[in-house]
Amino acid sequence: MANIILLGPPGAGKGTQAKRLVDGRDMVQLSTGDMLREAKTSGSEMGRMVADVMARGQLVTDAIVIGLIHEKLTGAAGGGFIFDGFPRTLAQADALGGLMAEVGQSLDAVIEMQVDDAALVSRITGRYTCGDCGAVYHDQTHPTQVHGVCDICRSDNLVRRADDNAEALRTRLMEYYKKTSPLIGYYYAKGELSSVDGLAEVDAVTAAIAQVLDKSK
Ligand code: AP5
Repeated sequence: MANIILLGPPGAGKGTQAKRLVDGRDMVQLSTGDMLREAKTSGSEMGRMVADVMARGQLVTDAIVIGLIHEKLTGAAGGGFIFDGFPRTLAQADALGGLMAEVGQSLDAVIEMQVDDAALVSRITGRYTCGDCGAVYHDQTHPTQVHGVCDICRSDNLVRRADDNAEALRTRLMEYYKKTSPLIGYYYAKGELSSVDGLAEVDAVTAAIAQVLDKSK
């Protein structure tokens, strides 16, 4: 069992790799982005509060996302938790340390997915996902086998995110460099950081992450 953070800018491939770890290692994906989008879809008050902030590409408040993670940490951990898109600020990183201690768990690895900004624009603007099972696709590099139908669950509910456009991406990248990238130094100093090449083929990235996980056992 391993608890890990996938750290990287929008489009680095965190969600793609998290889904492979769920399937291959029975891990539990905790994506604060997915949780916030679910809250939006459910029409809850919190979902309404965060909708505009997310569409602009800004971060929602620490208190909201820390609360979401807190709720999930008491659930089943399977082969370990994958924190996908959390933490994104130093305050969130400190809170995660405290929450893990509270539930008697620890972090085994923080995996930084290194990419360059030029690749991210086409990754983000070409992305679509299955609204039913969450499978991630791309117009050019990974389209569905049958147009308009999810390969995994055969649903035709394929969706694009409101923040997957060039303008919101600029804000998301600014937020990443200002508020999230300091976590690279934070986890490096704690001796927990490993880095993988996020620009490699999807299978090669999966293999590099597997190596980190196998070393952390
Ligand atoms: P969130 O949902 O976390 O989005 P993000 O961090 O911007 O990351 P993405 O989901 O866009 O990218 P990804 O790295 O998962 O890439 P993917 O695998 O899909 O957050 C959204 C918003 O919610 C935030 O802006 C904020 O408002 C709010 N939020 C969430 N968490 C928060 C927090 N903790 N604090 C405050 N606010 C928070 O891949 C992208 C595309 O590339 C896909 O099409 C895929 O097919 C393709 N691809 C993936 N890997 C490769 C590869 N190796 N080669 C070629 N193509 C690839």
